[in-house]
Amino acid sequence: MANRYQEVTTALQAEPHTWLVTGCAGFIGSNLIEHLLKLDQTVVGLDNFSTGYQHNLDEVQRLVDADKWRRFTFIEGDVCDLNTCRRAVKGVDHVLHQAALGSVPRSLDDPITSNAVNIGGHLNMMVAARDAKVRSFVYAASSSTYGDHPGLPKVEDQIGKPLSPYAVTKYVNELYADVFARAYGFGSIGLRYFNVFGQRQDPDGAYAAVIPKWVAAMIRNEELVINGDGQTSRDFCFIDNVVQANLLAALAQPEGVNQVYNVAFNARTTLNELFEHLRTTLGRNGVSYQRDPVHGEFREGDVRHSQADISKAQHLLGYEPAYNILQGLEVSMPWYTQFLR
Ligand SMILES: NC(=O)c1ccc[n+]([C@@H]2O[C@H](COP(=O)([O-])OP(=O)(O)OC[C@H]3O[C@@H](n4cnc5c(N)ncnc54)[C@H](O)[C@@H]3O)[C@@H](O)[C@H]2O)c1
Repeated sequence: MANRYQEVTTALQAEPHTWLVTGCAGFIGSNLIEHLLKLDQTVVGLDNFSTGYQHNLDEVQRLVDADKWRRFTFIEGDVCDLNTCRRAVKGVDHVLHQAALGSVPRSLDDPITSNAVNIGGHLNMMVAARDAKVRSFVYAASSSTYGDHPGLPKVEDQIGKPLSPYAVTKYVNELYADVFARAYGFGSIGLRYFNVFGQRQDPDGAYAAVIPKWVAAMIRNEELVINGDGQTSRDFCFIDNVVQANLLAALAQPEGVNQVYNVAFNARTTLNELFEHLRTTLGRNGVSYQRDPVHGEFREGDVRHSQADISKAQHLLGYEPAYNILQGLEVSMPWYTQFLR
């Protein structure tokens, strides 16, 4: 399995497939369509721009050749509408379902909308994909499903109680996937992403993730707040590792289907360490941030430590994350400095 990703990408280029990426105007979705189009795949994208942007699609268009971009079809629509899902999935081989409302705090502020999109939209996509008899269905699950389970590193079959409405929605996605396998023989794979970061992750808004939020604060020379004492830790995962996991999952062998997998790097970085990594990497990119961070309250619904055991994805999918946090920051920082200046 050592070079499974290379095998998969070579096979896809030799015989292109048709893909649906929901949430294609968002951070992870736009990176997926960029990679797929560069591999000469035919891609349909579905998004309603609730948290995604046209400028992400425009950027992908600039990054791929014109003839490859012609293989992309965009549908502006809502996964909460079953007919839209049916239209999007028509003639598609693989579904990469990313559309959802992310963020723990957002779900605490508005649990009803997070529930409607993340559970209702997921169920619609599964029904549409089942009826269209797609070859594979991969969906974005989340490390938040580990909830209050104290074990480290996190192993897929040992979860605790959810700590937020968002975590409930992502766990329900997994329950539906399991039931669809039993009741309808519909195969799927859930990828429990751990703190993904990289180019095109939204730096603005109340629900921005920590890396883009802090990078934006540093570039704008604004005050930067660390929630709690800064010893909270995360397994930060660069976007290209996530793209790899999606493609491997879509083309998984039968024994790898109907499973959930951790998608991370298998390292732990504290928020204090992250602050220093960002300051150093930005310094190398011509941005000098001299201020000290301010420590605020711990954030409700946050788990204290997070690190993934990735051996299941390594063994069953051939997942080999190619970028650690420092390598990922090095690759993505020029995007932030260009985007935010
Ligand atoms: N970024 C992370 O660290 C992380 C971690 C765990 C799980 N996830 C999951 O990965 C997926 C992608 O997250 P992201 O970070 O790219 O977020 P994002 O907000 O950048 O992307 C989500 C995209 O989905 C679209 N969308 C939302 N509701 C929709 C609807 N009703 N119909 C159609 N499109 C809709 C948004 O407009 C946006 O373009 C989500 O399911 C998220 O829960 C992300």
